[in-house]
Amino acid sequence: MKAVGKAIPHESAPLHVTGRALYTDDLLPRYPNALHAWPVQAPHAHARILRLEPAPALAVPGVVRVLTARDVPGLNDSGLKGDEPLFPEEVMYFGQAVAWVLAESEEAARLGAERVEVAYEPLPAILSIQEAIRQGSFQGATLEVRRGDVEAGFRASARVMEGALELGGQEHFYLETQASIALLDESGQVFVHASTQHPSETQEIVAQVLGLPRNRVTVQCIRMGGGFGGKEVQANPYAAVAALGAYLTGRPVRVRLNRLQDITLTGKRHPFYARWKVGFSEDGRLQALWMELYSDGGWSQDLSEPVLARALCHIDNAYYIPNLQAVGRVCKTHKTSQTAFRGFGGPQGMVFIEDILDRVARSLGLPPEVVRERNFYRQEGGRNITPYGQEVKDVERIQLIWEELKQSAEFERRREEIRRFNTQSPHRKRGLAITPVKFGISFNFTTYNQAGALVLVYQDGSVQVNHGGTEMGQGLHTKIQQIAAEALGVPLEAIRVMPTRTDKVPNTSATAASTGADLNGAAVKAACEKIRARLAGVAAQRFGVNPADVVFEEGQVYSLWKPQERLSFTEVVKTAYAQRVQLFADGFYRTPGLHWDKTRMWGKPFHYFAFGAAVSEVEVDGFTGQYALRRVDILHDVGDSLSPLVDLGQVEGGFIQGLGWLTLEDLRWDEKGQVVTRSASTYKLPSFSELPEVFNVRLLPRATEPGVVYGSKAVGEPPLMLAISVREALKDAVAAFGEGIVELASPATPEAVYWAIEKVRQRALVTGD
Ligand code: MTE
Ligand code: MOS
Repeated sequence: MKAVGKAIPHESAPLHVTGRALYTDDLLPRYPNALHAWPVQAPHAHARILRLEPAPALAVPGVVRVLTARDVPGLNDSGLKGDEPLFPEEVMYFGQAVAWVLAESEEAARLGAERVEVAYEPLPAILSIQEAIRQGSFQGATLEVRRGDVEAGFRASARVMEGALELGGQEHFYLETQASIALLDESGQVFVHASTQHPSETQEIVAQVLGLPRNRVTVQCIRMGGGFGGKEVQANPYAAVAALGAYLTGRPVRVRLNRLQDITLTGKRHPFYARWKVGFSEDGRLQALWMELYSDGGWSQDLSEPVLARALCHIDNAYYIPNLQAVGRVCKTHKTSQTAFRGFGGPQGMVFIEDILDRVARSLGLPPEVVRERNFYRQEGGRNITPYGQEVKDVERIQLIWEELKQSAEFERRREEIRRFNTQSPHRKRGLAITPVKFGISFNFTTYNQAGALVLVYQDGSVQVNHGGTEMGQGLHTKIQQIAAEALGVPLEAIRVMPTRTDKVPNTSATAASTGADLNGAAVKAACEKIRARLAGVAAQRFGVNPADVVFEEGQVYSLWKPQERLSFTEVVKTAYAQRVQLFADGFYRTPGLHWDKTRMWGKPFHYFAFGAAVSEVEVDGFTGQYALRRVDILHDVGDSLSPLVDLGQVEGGFIQGLGWLTLEDLRWDEKGQVVTRSASTYKLPSFSELPEVFNVRLLPRATEPGVVYGSKAVGEPPLMLAISVREALKDAVAAFGEGIVELASPATPEAVYWAIEKVRQRALVTGD
């Protein structure tokens, strides 16, 4: 391999660090006559709109138009389930946009929005999962995963324990907020620049709102300043507003949310609540698990159902649970519509089972890592089948990673060291934990597992690659460049990856579920191989050999028979052109072997699993709950890495984002349903000071994944769940202050840690230890 597997920087790294990288809103100066849009945001979590009067806004100098429901030529809905009116009659969450003002300047649009008169009739609002459960306020289907007989499992269990846990949401806080610029050409073609993970769906929604066929709409995404799932579907309404404005006024329209608008308008990671009952043996082996999961979906369905499905498909994590019944529901509340966020429900499912295993271990007086290991999926005795019927291929890898990491992190030695430290230190305790990750790769919805590419070779041998994936900082375009260079046998510099556009590759899937490189990479490879086969024919003639014996390598072409006789790639391309051989090709890929019965939650939803494990060590102050992350060791499986620097960045970044969710980021909503943590000053994000003092990250070597592009594995989301080790390490430290199981709220802020310590201390007092 010459290009694939090379440790190169992100293709835009120089642009990123010099500030020259362009994001959607940076294109604004190209449209000097653009109008600026500003939302009119409702001051109620739930209300009927009695009257909406735009006239006073039009009196503000510079205001050109106010967009309302009456202006929509197509369908007044920015979703695919019919429950997301772009201009609502009923306000469904605090801050919902009820109208948009277009003006010559941002300031004029803002002043205009203040003047739009809206009369509301406030209605009662549901603002928590608990309240939604009480009122039976749910949306979408009830989902259930079931295997074996839980009741029989409980009867056969030596011990049975019950519990519950609530997990907070998470704000995406992508650096670039939602943004779009739309314009019309002279023929009425709508062109939309959008910061979207899913240009094809943005095109679909724009066409739906405007009542146009999709061939009248082109969407382009140059790159995103982060998406993290928050732009998988939630970029669409803002693109639709821009497009509607352009369509009605004939002028370019720019929508760019400021941070306050973005946080108050857009959805977040789903908060979850689960209650459970677990049965296990005296040696800590799980016999049966019953669980009820509730997610807070907010005001509309959005992606809540597939997020819940992924949560249900990950409550097993790396563990075999012979009897399981897990039922999930999406609560409908008067909050922002919660949406995809890195891990897509998987993290929530996995936190629950890790929390349960820790409680099982502490109730038995066993080290949690021993109980975890005892419950691993294994080859023997059919213990390698998930509750939804999929075989865990490469099941040995869980154990392999576990052993290797325990070695390299000196787990046993540090366990002992920490035990000694804790006996001598009454007020500061250290904790250590190792947790595994097993994460399914593919969209649960089988249809989405397809991708297309269009590769163009010009006569000078230079290449343009178009594919359906979007770049959000994760390095997809870097990997695609490497894949195309490898497949064509040309240097990296010969390849240009073009901005993602719906008029190059149609009907694409979201860049999501970590499948960007798997799907689009395979499609690009297929297109390149078509071209290379044609060029091999041309070169074979020149060399007088069989095309199968022609080698393409770093811009040179030769035959196996006479490697010293070489042609440049460009010469072969020129010859091909002269011979009227087609120099461009499409490529298509669909993941083989998937099937999924959504109603029974049964089948093979994933092409394979990504694995990893992390060891975290913390030190906790017993007076304040303050803690420090002393050391983290990670071993993560990315198959044969397509791009090791990019992958390391993804593992580190994913871990830190997970750490933020589980320990720092505390989303708060007030009694009126208003998000009160709506800026970086009140919403604590991880920064340098929260990084582990020692951070050892390694990729599993010799990990070729058959049946995936160049033996690689997806990396975008799985590492986020390595951060569960930090939460578990905190629980380990808390346990050292007292007795019994640890009940730690999430996020595990110092305050939450403090109260968890209080509980174990009280227990120790009662039992007189
Ligand atoms: N990394 C960066 N820098 N920025 C992002 O927005 N999104 C994550 C992950 N890594 C994200 C990221 C999410 S939610 C997903 S699904 C994947 O990248 C999507 O890209 P991929 O499929 O190419 O890995
Ligand atoms: Mo990622 S949550 O699948 O966009």
